Amino acid sequence: MEFKKRILVTGGAGFIGSHVVRLFVNKYPDCQIVNFDKLTYAGNLENLKDVEHAENYVFVKGDIVSLDDVRSVFEKFHISDVIHLAAESHVDRSIEGPMDFVMTNVVGTVNLLQAAKDAWKEGEHVFHHVSTDEVYGSLGEEGLFMETTPYDPRSPYSASKASSDHFVSAFHHTYGLPVKMSNCSNNYGSHHFPEKLIPLMIHNIVNKKPLPVYGKGENIRDWLWVEDHARAIDTIFHKGRVGESYNVGGLNEWTNIELVRFLCKMMDQKLGRSEGESEELITYVTDRKGHDLRYAIDSTKLETELGWTPSITFEEGLDKTVDWYLNNEDWVQKVTSGSYQDYYLQMYQDR
Ligand code: NAD
Ligand code: DAU
Repeated sequence: MEFKKRILVTGGAGFIGSHVVRLFVNKYPDCQIVNFDKLTYAGNLENLKDVEHAENYVFVKGDIVSLDDVRSVFEKFHISDVIHLAAESHVDRSIEGPMDFVMTNVVGTVNLLQAAKDAWKEGEHVFHHVSTDEVYGSLGEEGLFMETTPYDPRSPYSASKASSDHFVSAFHHTYGLPVKMSNCSNNYGSHHFPEKLIPLMIHNIVNKKPLPVYGKGENIRDWLWVEDHARAIDTIFHKGRVGESYNVGGLNEWTNIELVRFLCKMMDQKLGRSEGESEELITYVTDRKGHDLRYAIDSTKLETELGWTPSITFEEGLDKTVDWYLNNEDWVQKVTSGSYQDYYLQMYQDR
């Protein structure tokens, strides 16, 4: 079959990537979606069971840190566009070992840019780089991150993402590569690896394990439903201006402790437990090193220029998310056996 576009989605087996792949495979049957993923601990083909036999979908196992792997997938599939999500994504892991973050997030991104630049000599193309609001640093009590906010990354993870953003801009300015960028706030939803706050708390509540809240639980995050992020990527990829970046967020700020209490209440009801039972599991633990206080995103540019808005409230999204975890115990079981146990002990045992 002759496809209109052949879109390389890197990191398509991860949390956000799998939602992006699913949306594109279903919505654009005339485009081939090539999911290129190394399948690290965070990548899981089970996330894509429902589209794995689609005619316009193909999975290729590969590493963006290998320029040979990257060039080979570009050549084999005549890649016309890229949506780049592959990354090491967990801040706590970056504090323990920054080098994997430099390799995948910086070197891997430059390999993709280099391959795209070499392959795209004519015709219309888009290289969409998916990034994070953490590149802007940490806010005080007031204000929101704008696209014009100066970069001020403070963790090894955000420093690696900021560096990758700068390389993307540099390839646009220096070589004219047709890039678009998006910087999004914290996502939540189905298929989220239980090292991150929301799925970890859901998993521990189910299992009546301690709920480790860092510091005093006063840090603030701005939460967005992952399917709304996938829709934003679709919108920016198709309608965004080349060379521009767009902030994506839900104007939905919660302190960590408020959020964990809200989850406890919701899950006590769903699990038929007595009121307040899960809250007793809350345990304050040693704070994350260099813990950013507050993130909050202004997505006015995306909303007014391209017409995107979040589709559901946090309460609705969290309700759907908790139901997904309760109904997908096999998935949870698979991803929390093996190396997850070692990770958990290393991070939380003596904290
Ligand atoms: P994730 O950790 O769930 O998934 C990352 C995926 O990338 C996995 O499938 C993994 O196997 C793959 N991968 C890792 N290293 C690779 C390599 N060297 N080569 C090929 N594939 C590799 O991450 P996520 O939370 O889905 O985040 C996806 C992207 O979105 C990242 O770039 C992240 O920085 C960005 N982002 C995430 C959030 C969030 O809240 N999760 C918010 C804003 C931006
Ligand atoms: O803002 C976007 C970013 O959001 C993404 O770029 C990152 O990839 C993603 O991991 C996320 O980073 P955070 O560090 O904000 O997410 P995390 O879920 O790790 O933590 C959310 C908050 O909860 C943070 O303030 C730390 C706190 N926390 C986290 C864990 C795992 C706890 O209190 N206890 C925990 O056990």
